[in-house]
Amino acid sequence: MVMMRVLFTVCLLCIPSFPAAPPSPPTVNEYLFMVQARGVQIRENVRSIGVQVLEQVVRGAYSNGTDYTYDFNLSEPHFETTTYLPEGFTYHPDQKCPEKLPSMKGPVDVNMSEVTLLEVEKSLLEADVSLSLGGHWKPQDCMARWKVAILVPFRNRHEHLPILLRHLIPALQRQRLQFGIYVIEQAGNEPFNRAMLFNVGFREAMKDIKWDCMVFHDVDHILENDRNYYGCEKMPRHFAVKLNKYSYMLPYNEFFGGVSGLTAEQFRRINGFPNAFWGWGGEDDDLWNRVHFAGYRVSRPPGDIGRYMSIPHHHRGEVQFLGRYTLLRRSKERQKVDGLNNLNYAPRVSRSPLYTNVTVHLTRELAPVADY
Ligand SMILES: *[C@@H]1O[C@H](CO)[C@@H](O)[C@H](O)[C@H]1NC(C)=O
Ligand SMILES: *[C@@H]1O[C@H](CO)[C@@H](O)[C@H](O)[C@H]1NC(C)=O
Ligand SMILES: *[C@@H]1O[C@H](CO)[C@@H](O)[C@H](O)[C@H]1NC(C)=O
Ligand SMILES: *[C@@H]1O[C@H](CO)[C@@H](O)[C@H](O)[C@H]1NC(C)=O
Repeated sequence: MVMMRVLFTVCLLCIPSFPAAPPSPPTVNEYLFMVQARGVQIRENVRSIGVQVLEQVVRGAYSNGTDYTYDFNLSEPHFETTTYLPEGFTYHPDQKCPEKLPSMKGPVDVNMSEVTLLEVEKSLLEADVSLSLGGHWKPQDCMARWKVAILVPFRNRHEHLPILLRHLIPALQRQRLQFGIYVIEQAGNEPFNRAMLFNVGFREAMKDIKWDCMVFHDVDHILENDRNYYGCEKMPRHFAVKLNKYSYMLPYNEFFGGVSGLTAEQFRRINGFPNAFWGWGGEDDDLWNRVHFAGYRVSRPPGDIGRYMSIPHHHRGEVQFLGRYTLLRRSKERQKVDGLNNLNYAPRVSRSPLYTNVTVHLTRELAPVADY
């Protein structure tokens, strides 16, 4: 999350100069909402991003009265030939599960009410869902097409986790994916290091099963459409394209936050996430850079399939990482020396009915980076 701060700044600056004609739909109020949501500080933005870039964006923002354009091409690179299968479709235990199943109905009823893990367990049991310990499952009526590890970085969000699981687990089952849920909890007092937790989660998950696909999933992101398929054909993939808290718009083209996915092989090839981002912000942009330096292109679900609702909260006690702009300038050099290859840690692993708990005390000494 770097560019977004520029965009917000721009909009604050351009409000007074809007023409008298009504602005195009997602404008002033939406941005004010977004600005409030992120607590943007204009002065800091100008300092950290530079006047030049800002001017450029402002110029773009003024043209035609729209705030900014985001012009990436949402269509899938491959032409889709299969459609969603009809209700009467029969599965065969010795055949691969299709990707577009009759059980995937599209929009999901999201229920943001607080709920306990025990209640979620009970309701899944009632729905005849037999997870094995650690939140593992695979379909019985067909052969899972993909083995997907869901990695959820975690600290101090105990009320969010059951809300996520009550929506995510049934959706993955409707998608007939084999999956395991890994909650990677950061212990200790260092700032939250989302990226390093993903690296730890990857290593630990691969000890269980040779997963094909890794989905990097924030705990507060609830998918709104079960046709957002978590298999890895189209990876690297950015799943969380439209978030309610950003008025269902992609904040900027390179945005790679919230929910993203890579195959295990891709993840190894890019040397995982960086470990050097302590505090929130920037690590998702660095991952985007890594993916592109490796020659991959990120795909996104089309239309409303990539909609997510975020559980409202403020970065409760979690500090943001102000050094991210500096690190991002050296993404390419750092990619070789900071990631899966300089990672050390000692996890405590335990299994609950709905997820595997990987707790890890993170300190800076665990991921040494030589000069680069
Ligand atoms: C402004 O709108 C016109 C017509 O829709 C378009 O041709 C032009 O490229 C737009 N300018 C910018 C900077 O987007
Ligand atoms: C978007 O991409 C698709 C497939 O790559 C292409 O066929 C289509 O023309 C593109 N659309 C635009 C508006 O560029
Ligand atoms: C939402 O979840 C709460 C807690 O489990 C439950 O009491 C309530 O009935 C649910 N609401 C809907 C509309 O399903
Ligand atoms: C994970 O396990 C640790 C103990 O190892 C415990 O303190 C923590 O609450 C657990 N976290 C979750 C999300 O279950």
